[in-house]
Amino acid sequence: MSARALFRTVWLATLLLVPVLAGAAESPSAPTFYRDVLPLLQSHCQECHHEGGPNISGMKAPMSLVDYRDTRPWAKSIRKVVADREMPPWGASWETSHGIANRRALAPDQIDTILRWVDQGAVAGNPDDAPPKKTFDDGSWLIGEPDLVVTMPEPLVVGDDVADWQPYVTFKLTPEQLSEPRWIKVAEYKPNCDIIHHLTATIVPPPDEDGNPREPFFLGGIATGSEPREYPAGFGRLLHPGSEIVLSLHYNKEPGPGTGIENQVTMGIKFYEPDEEVRYELKQTRIGRFFDFEIPPGHGNWKIGGAMEIPQWALLTSFSPHMHYRGKDMKYTAFYPDGTSEVLIDVDRYDFEWQIAYILEEPRLMPPGTRIEVEAHMNNSAEREREFPEIDSSRPVGWGLLSTDEMMHGFITWSPIDEDEARNWGGQSR
Ligand code: HEC
Repeated sequence: MSARALFRTVWLATLLLVPVLAGAAESPSAPTFYRDVLPLLQSHCQECHHEGGPNISGMKAPMSLVDYRDTRPWAKSIRKVVADREMPPWGASWETSHGIANRRALAPDQIDTILRWVDQGAVAGNPDDAPPKKTFDDGSWLIGEPDLVVTMPEPLVVGDDVADWQPYVTFKLTPEQLSEPRWIKVAEYKPNCDIIHHLTATIVPPPDEDGNPREPFFLGGIATGSEPREYPAGFGRLLHPGSEIVLSLHYNKEPGPGTGIENQVTMGIKFYEPDEEVRYELKQTRIGRFFDFEIPPGHGNWKIGGAMEIPQWALLTSFSPHMHYRGKDMKYTAFYPDGTSEVLIDVDRYDFEWQIAYILEEPRLMPPGTRIEVEAHMNNSAEREREFPEIDSSRPVGWGLLSTDEMMHGFITWSPIDEDEARNWGGQSR
């Protein structure tokens, strides 16, 4: 979501909730659609649930929840998904979602309003109570019009016999595409086919003037339910002319005659304006376990942990938990050098289909020696297998690339800063 869209959402939410809460306090009668529920659908659901809504890396809402006629038939399902916290898609606990810029969660009292509305007859109420209709701008890019659009120069042939294939495609930015370094604000990918299961992009910059290598970095990708998100203001990644783009692609389809395709992925990038100040270069680091874990067969709550010590002053900007079908929850805790500790985020309802990055409203200052611990639980039980028949809960499972294998990666993005800057950091510190 763009900063403008986010602002609009937050603004609408604030503006619309005030009369709702006031109304609820005045009248003990059943919640109505127009007065109590529609404002919540506008602030928490319609962004996806409207005609022509977004396709978020393969996830497209199946119905519109814009007016009473659209919504009423879904009342029972809405009750279920809201009570189970399946919708809106958001894995972090309400308590640890404060301070997260892209928060989608409903507050406990908002959940309660929706449940009471359904339980008390899902009535329409008075249309005059309705807030103004919300409008959406559905461009072909979720990020808005990109500054740079690059398509794989050669089509990749995915043969008829391919069922599961993970090729790499590498190409270089041409001088026409980029002639001077620019700070990246956000990137988005278009698969241009429906058999890409996921995709990640790595940018490999050319060496600097003295021939020293520059560090490659990840630049997002496509993973079910993941959304392109702008870096916080002042933070970015520098794209150098002549950089190599390495796409790691994962195709998955039924093999058979006529199922092959030729595919060219497109990436769109938005840059900071040249006069905008970007002070902090972001890094992504994986905290967690690689290769060396095994979840026993049938175990419903297997704990896996990992940790990292931050070597220098740093600003922390986001968390991206990544597990596969068996992932249940992941909690990040900071242990500070002064002996205190704090839960940074508790993703207590992880959902593999929604790969969400939790982005801090205000980057957090971390002193050198801060230890970040990540603790996750995995469910390799028959119950999980009923939910995801792809997995086999009668076998132990370890790290692997396939979704039926497991991963336990607690990604963070952060930016090292020098001590003077840390001392002068005006934003939130612990
Ligand atoms: C970020 C996009 C997004 C938001 C926000 C969102 N949804 Fe959804 N919703 C989806 C998608 C995609 C699906 C279909 C896939 C799935 O079930 O996960 C879905 C499915 C559903 C379903 C199940 C439909 C079925 O076929 O059974 C219901 C009910 C629902 N959403 C209600 C809501 C409500 C109520 C809200 C707000 C409180 C909401 N959603 C917010 C994207 C969203």
